[in-house]
Order: sequence, then structure tokens, then C-alpha cells
Amino acid sequence: MKKKTLLDRDLDVSKVLGAGSQEDLQGFIPLPLRSLKKNQEIPFDVFLRVKPKNRSETTFLSVCSKGMVFQGVWRQKLEDLQVPQVFISTADETHILPYLLRDLETPPEYFRDEDRAALVYDSTLIWLRQSFRNLQERAAVEVGPVSPLLANLMGLMKKENYWDIIMPLMEGHGSIYSHSLNVCFLGLAFIDYLGWSAKSAQVFGLGALLHDLGMSKVPAEILNKKGALTEEEMDKVRLHPLSGYHLLKNHAWMYHNALLMVLQHHENEDGSGYPQKLLGTSIHLWAKVLRLVDSYEAMTSRRPWREAMSPGKALWSIRQGVEEQHIYDPVLFKTFVKFLAEHEK
Ligand SMILES: [Fe+2]
Repeated sequence: MKKKTLLDRDLDVSKVLGAGSQEDLQGFIPLPLRSLKKNQEIPFDVFLRVKPKNRSETTFLSVCSKGMVFQGVWRQKLEDLQVPQVFISTADETHILPYLLRDLETPPEYFRDEDRAALVYDSTLIWLRQSFRNLQERAAVEVGPVSPLLANLMGLMKKENYWDIIMPLMEGHGSIYSHSLNVCFLGLAFIDYLGWSAKSAQVFGLGALLHDLGMSKVPAEILNKKGALTEEEMDKVRLHPLSGYHLLKNHAWMYHNALLMVLQHHENEDGSGYPQKLLGTSIHLWAKVLRLVDSYEAMTSRRPWREAMSPGKALWSIRQGVEEQHIYDPVLFKTFVKFLAEHEK
């Protein structure tokens, strides 16, 4: 007889929550429901995040155990109830990526471009979480999956309708991981438009994914602060390109150009940026591209303390950053506007 789980019973969906914008999920990792494959064995316990009656704090409820075959009806039930995510314990974290990547290696028959794009997005997000933590703890980083993930993404960009496939995925939740991933997606689309090679895309993609690694050293109370930061708090945030650079510089797998992207992505054309106050002539071209895409993505995404700006408003603000504050490279900006105009039709 099949083992019954909570998913075989009635669920009170009003108590089921998503990840929200919280980074601290008490040892749990959010995974979009779409990542759970129907009728396949799962190599980790699956939890829902719930808010029990009469309690202010949330808790994680186990709904399916490691080794069970995830039933299609369970997934359907969660889809019908519009449960956006499930959660996996960090103790099972190492099992997630191999489980997800199997479908990239041998895609199932039903696999559409949209499925591939979602899988690349979800897998890269898992890789980012794992790698940010490992790099911070000076533990080994598994870089093997990055190259096939980026190659798959570049492959999707050759499709005519890739903008429609990729853009809906980029509805970030304001976390450092979704920001990094969105910047990588958008940055790769832009350099593809610029005609850069596949090899450059691999290096650029890695730099974009890791550009804000140093933010993991900035105290959470500063990152989550709703009001304006004090000068002292800003100084701590301004350390992040250098912190990221130091965390990455001794890794043999880290490319030099990608390292410069991490270090220089807050330098300004007029030398008013940080950490080295470089002038435009000394800033690496890839860091300039990242500077632009990074700002655009940050402005057009929602944050816990503010709404997202419209693309037009964000470009207007960046244009001021070109003409008045001399932050961004003017030639790159013009090309970026053209690139967006051609895709946002
Ligand atoms: Fe940054």
C-alpha cells in the first residue's frame, strides 16, 4: 500500500506561505513548485512553509519524504491551491542540483523551451545560494554546473521568442540571489546583442552571477533597512566589491575578467565611484557593461522598501547618470537603449 502523506489530505491553504523576501528561512531553501518532477523519486524531504493558528512565527511542515515518488496528483493539488514554492532543508541541499540537472542532460519528451528556461533559472538560483555560502565559509565550490547552465541559457537566447520565455522568469523577489541571476540573464542578452563570443559569455556570466558576493558580508540589518542608510552604513555597503574580490581572487576557476567585473562594478566614469575611484579610461569594459545592467535591474525590481520603477523611468534616471553625474559609459548606454527598444516591442 502507498504511504499516505499530508498531500493526500485537505490542506488549509490560507496558512501556506511563500518565501517572501526573507533571506533567513531558518535552514530551508525555497524551490519553485515547477521544479518537482511528477512521478519521480525525490532525493529530499519536501516541506511547506505555514503559519499555524494563534502563533506569530512561521514553521515548516513536512509533506513528503525522501525516497517517495512525487505523485502527479500532489503537484496538481499544490498548483490548484496556488502554492508557489516548496522548501528543502539545507541538510539535503547537495541533492537538489543533481536532481534538477538530470533533465538538462536528458530532457524529457514534453520539455519545451519554457521548461528549459525555468529549469536553468531555478538551478542557477540553487547554485548561487550554495556557492555564496561556501565562498563565504571558504569551503569548496562546485563550479561544474555553471558552464552547462550558461551554455543552455545562451542556446535559448538564439531562439526567436527568447525574450518572451526569459523575461517572465525575471520577476525577482528582491533577494541578492534573484538580483544576481537577473543581472546575469539580462547582461548575457545584452552582450549577445553586442555580438560577443560564446567564450566571453561564459566568463561574463560567471562575473555577473558573483558580482555582489561581497554583499553577503554586509550586516542583514543594513541590507533590510527600510529607510535611507547613514553614511557609516553606506561605507559598509561600499566595501562589497572589494570583499567579493578578496573572496574570489585565489580560486583557480575564477577568470581574471570576471574578477575585474566584481571589483569594478561600482566605479564611475568620472572617478567618483568605489572602491578604487577609477576613471572611465581605466575601468574594464565588462565592468562598465555590468554597471549599466546592474543599475537597470535594481531600479526595475521591487525591493522590500520600494516599488519597482518602470523601464522608461529607469532609463531616464540612468540617462541623467550619463549626462549629469557621468556615472555610466555614454556609448554603451545608447546601445543598451537600442537593445531594450528592439526587445520590448
Ligand atoms: Fe554591487
